[in-house]
This record gives sequence, structure tokens and C-alpha cells, in this order.
Amino acid sequence: MNISNENAIFVIFGGTGDLTKRKLIPALYNLEIEKKLSEKFIIVAIGRRDYTTEFYRKQMKEAIIEFSGDTFNEKDWNKFVIKISYLRFDFSHTCEGYTILDKYLSKIDKENGINGNRIYYLAVPPSSFEPIINNLHCRKMLLNKDNWQRVMVEKPFGSNLKSARELNENISKSIKEKNLFRIDHYLGKEMIQNIMAIRFGNSIFEPLWNHQYIENIQIISSETIGVKSRGSYYEATGVLKDMLQNHILQMLSLIAMEPPISLLPEEIRDEKVKAIKSLRIDHGEKVEDTIVLGQYGESPSHIGYRDEDNVNSKSKVPTFIAMKAYIDNFRWSGVPFYIKVGKGLPEKETKIIIQFKKLPGINHYEEFNNTKPNMLVIRIQPNEGIYFQINAKTPGNEFKVNSVEMDYCQKSAISSNSTAAYERLIIEAIRNNSSLFTRWDELEYSWKYIESIEQAIKSYNYQYPNYVFGTEGPTMADKLLESNHKWYKS
Ligand code: BG6
Repeated sequence: MNISNENAIFVIFGGTGDLTKRKLIPALYNLEIEKKLSEKFIIVAIGRRDYTTEFYRKQMKEAIIEFSGDTFNEKDWNKFVIKISYLRFDFSHTCEGYTILDKYLSKIDKENGINGNRIYYLAVPPSSFEPIINNLHCRKMLLNKDNWQRVMVEKPFGSNLKSARELNENISKSIKEKNLFRIDHYLGKEMIQNIMAIRFGNSIFEPLWNHQYIENIQIISSETIGVKSRGSYYEATGVLKDMLQNHILQMLSLIAMEPPISLLPEEIRDEKVKAIKSLRIDHGEKVEDTIVLGQYGESPSHIGYRDEDNVNSKSKVPTFIAMKAYIDNFRWSGVPFYIKVGKGLPEKETKIIIQFKKLPGINHYEEFNNTKPNMLVIRIQPNEGIYFQINAKTPGNEFKVNSVEMDYCQKSAISSNSTAAYERLIIEAIRNNSSLFTRWDELEYSWKYIESIEQAIKSYNYQYPNYVFGTEGPTMADKLLESNHKWYKS
């Protein structure tokens, strides 16, 4: 990432919230000490709490100390902190009420010679997106005339197809699509950005990237944690809306899309949306052969989902999904995309596995009976890298063939506290690179796909809890694979 020369005010709605403390301020702090922000990049945090700027800065300092531990540097902090100010402001005000905010930002703008560029970051509950954006528009704070004003929104954008459409329609009078940056923090992850480089930068992969050579694709994302303090949020989302609708479908679209004609954001997004549009579930007669849902139950060291705070004691919300999806196009005809995602599993890990077909006729060579299918594994986190499995002769006098692994590790075990994804997303929003953000039609088709899954599972009564916290998930997940396929295990 280069230095961004854009002067701007970065306005955080939800300045006292958890996301701001854990991710946004640490990400901005890192960008500042790495000199990636312009000298005239000012942060205004907005919250309802009766804080002074001084008190707010103190709180953020504690957050940064907690985040950076021994590496905390007082001198760096002192340079950064003068860029932060706090405004007590109730963002549920009417348009009229936004005059206070407008005046405050104009003053900061003038004092620092910024010239009107703004990013409004909405780290607030989704129900506040619409009133905030409409009020900003109504006070003419989103004009984009001689300067730019962009809005970054966290997920979820809507809670289903209907509400997402309504929200989009209701804000589209106030903001143009190109100025709205819908965040999916997975798109900021290093290895997810690497997917296009691996696919389109290697002549050994792209020609084989289709149903003729690929047996199956797996996207596995497991977490060791439960829902922690987010019980009420999770009750409204579950794994389908919390992970599948956004992060997983975004990864899938990058793996499955056609090569874009250029790397311009709109070209990339055009291809991603086509891949999402072509998704279908094919559950034949029995839905449980295609979609396995799970909910974690208690283990000796962890309570079950139904005992978590703010969770209904008879909750039917799934914390796990394993499924088989197909992409209806020429490239992917007949190739299953297996997806496995959940909380309360044994490892924190996200990876994408491309399993190639076995060579035809290989069984005529007895010595080759040991061969395993070629496999490309893209490790997204916590270790970042790629791993390629090929077959080769074992050294020695005998002719024995075994699989060997070519392993490229880019970075090992980045801390779960990493803010790298947020740093990248902030910088790209400043640079106006929207390819790392979700366009409306991508989102619309993702919601449509989720609806088709919801429709399919209506007919089946999953019995919860059906896996013990910290174990591999429901055993039924193994049954949905075609007979010669297995879930990848590292
Ligand atoms: C969030 C989900 O979007 O992603 C969380 O709401 C989940 O439930 C998190 O834990 C996972 O993100 P990461 O970057 O830790 O894989």
C-alpha cells in the first residue's frame, strides 16, 4: 500500500462502539505510523455518550495499548492522537439536527485546510444506515461537487432480499452507488486478494480451471469461538446470514468467476455477480443430502448455543452449515462446490481447496496406485499461503510414487487481532477503488441465493443441538459428499 495523498475527514458514526475500538482506531493508527495517510487526514468520532475529546482519546489510547502490547510507542501515539476529536451527537436526529454535525465538520475542515473530502464510516446498527445517509444528503453533506464524500457501511446490508432491496432503494436517492462502499472485511484479506493473482497469473492453473480438470472445490471456514456476547445479533442471522451470504459467497465468486476483461473495479464486479447469479442448490429428493445444518451443544468446557446470553433456550438458529452447491455455467458444469462453515469447531481456519481430477488410466500402472489427486490449497488464515500437492518418485532404487507438497507460506499465524483487512479497506476507499467492496447487484443475488436455501430447508426438521462444541460438526456433513470425495484435512 502506498501513501494516500488524499486529505480528508474520516467521520466515525458509532465512535464509542466495539468495532471502532477493536478495529478502526487500531487500523488508522497503524496506517498513520506507517505513513500511509496524508498529513491532513483527520478523524472525528461521533457518539451519544457524554465524553470530551480528551476522555475519548484516553479510552482509545487504552485500546491501542491493549492491541499493540509491548510494541506501543508513546511518541507515535502522540503524533496520532492530535488527529482525533470526539463529538457528542445523536445520529437519530432529524435533518435539522444534522446542522450541528455539519457545522462541526466544516470548522474542522477549515482549520486543517482539507477542502471537503469526507468518509463517513457507519459502525452502527443497520437500522441506522438509512436515516444517517438520508440526513447527510438532506444537509447537503454528500454533494460530491468539487470534492468527494463517500460512505462506508458495515454488514449486514438488509436482513433478507426484501429488506436489502428496500434499504437500497431508500438510500439511492441520497447516495450514488459509486460513493457507497459496502464492507465485506474478507475482501481486505491478503490471500483473498491473492486469488486473482494465483488464477490469472499462472499458465499452469487458468487453462485447467474448469469442469474438465477439476473434481471438486471446497471452501472451509471454521471458528473455535462461540457467539460470545453477540447472542441477540446471531439469533437474527445464524450462520447463513452471518457468514455464508457475505464472506463465503465472495470467496466463491472470486474462485468461480470468468477472467474480467481488465482489473477495473466494475469489470471485476461484473464477473463476480455472474458467478453468484449462476449458483444453484441441487437437493434432489432429500435436502439433508445437500444441506446439513448444525447447532453446537455444550461440551465440558463450553456452554451450548442455547445457553449463551440473549439466545432463546429452544433456538432453531444454526451455527454450522455444510452444503453442496453448483454453478450453472459451461465452466463449472457438474463440479460440486462444497462449503463448510461454523462456530465451535476444533480450529480457526479458512481455506479453499481445488481438487483436480485423477489422470485417466492411471490404475494400469501398479506403481502409481499411491498417487493422490493434485490439489491446490489456498490458505486464507491464520497462516497465509498456498500449497500444491503433486506426485513424484520417492528417492531410492525402487520405483515408488508418492505425493509431495510444495508449500509456500507467506505469513504464519497472524494474530486474530490483526487489523490488516481494515487498513486495506480504508486505504482503498480513500483511493476510490471499489473492487474490494460489494456492489448492489452482488448483494442482491447473494440474498436471492440465501432465500433459495431457506426455502429448501423449510421442509426438513434439523434436530438441535447436533454437535458438541469443539468437535468437527454434525457427522451428517460427511454424507453429503459424493462417494469418491472427502472433506480436506490438513
Ligand atoms: C464476521 C462475523 O463477519 O466475521 C463473525 O459476523 C465472525 O461471526 C467473523 O466471527 C469472522 O471473521 P474472521 O476475520 O475472524 O475470520
